[in-house]
Amino acid sequence: MSLLDLSFDEVLTTTRAVRKRLDLTRPVEPEVIDECLTLALQAPSPGDVQTWHFLVVTDPAKRAALAELYRKGAAMMYKEAEKMLANVSDEQTLARLQRMTSSALYLVEHLHEVPVHIIPCAEGRVEKPSVPEQIGLWTGIIPATWSFMLAARSRGLGTVLTSLHLIYEREAAEILGIPYERITQAALIPVAYTIGTDFKPAKRKPLAEVVHRESW
Ligand SMILES: Cc1cc2nc3c(=O)[nH]c(=O)nc-3n(C[C@H](O)[C@H](O)[C@H](O)COP(=O)(O)O)c2cc1C
Repeated sequence: MSLLDLSFDEVLTTTRAVRKRLDLTRPVEPEVIDECLTLALQAPSPGDVQTWHFLVVTDPAKRAALAELYRKGAAMMYKEAEKMLANVSDEQTLARLQRMTSSALYLVEHLHEVPVHIIPCAEGRVEKPSVPEQIGLWTGIIPATWSFMLAARSRGLGTVLTSLHLIYEREAAEILGIPYERITQAALIPVAYTIGTDFKPAKRKPLAEVVHRESW
C-alpha cells in the first residue's frame, strides 16, 4: 500500500475530521484497512488486556441502516447546535462553527455512501460508571482508534470520529449482531480516500491556556 510523503509530525497535525472531501466513488481496498488496523493494535491498552474489537462494515444495506440511525441522532443534536451558534458573538469562532456545522450536515446526508464504516468496540459495559471504570473502558479503545485514523491519513484515507449513532447504540448492535450487554460501541468512523491530500493544521487554543505547569 503506498504511503503519502508526510513526516510523522505532518500526520499528527493534518489528520482532520474529513467529511466533504471523502471520495464517495473510489473503492477502498480491504488490505489497506487491515494494514491500518494492524498498526492500531500497537496502541496501549490498560494492563495490556487488549479488550478492543473493530467492526468493518462495507455491506450497503448495513451502511444505509447505520446512516439512518446517524440521521436520527443528528436530528436530536441539531437544535442544540442551533442554540450554540446563536450564542456565539465572536465572528471568527462563529465562521469556524458554521463551517463545521455545514460539513457535519453534509456527512449526515452522505454517510450511507461512504464505502467503509469502522465501529471500534470495547469489551464491557458500564452504566453509571465511576471515573476509574470509565477510564478503563474508554482508554481501552480510543488510543487504538486514533492510531487507526493516523495510519489511514498516511495512506491517503480520510476519517472522522463520529458519535451520533451511539444515541441508538442498541439498534446499531442489532443491525451488526454485536452482543450489546457485554460490548460497547465507541464510535463510527467513516473511511474513504480523500479528494486531494493536502490538509492543514487546525487552529487550536494557545498552549498557555490549556497547559498547567506544576499545579493548576
Ligand atoms: C468524542 C468525539 C465525538 C465526535 N462526534 C462527531 C459526530 O458525531 N459527527 C461528526 O461529524 N463529527 C464528530 N466529531 C468530530 C469533531 O466534530 C471534529 O473533531 C471537529 O470538527 C474538529 O475538526 P478537526 O478534528 O479536523 O480539527 C467528534 C469528535 C470527537 C473527539
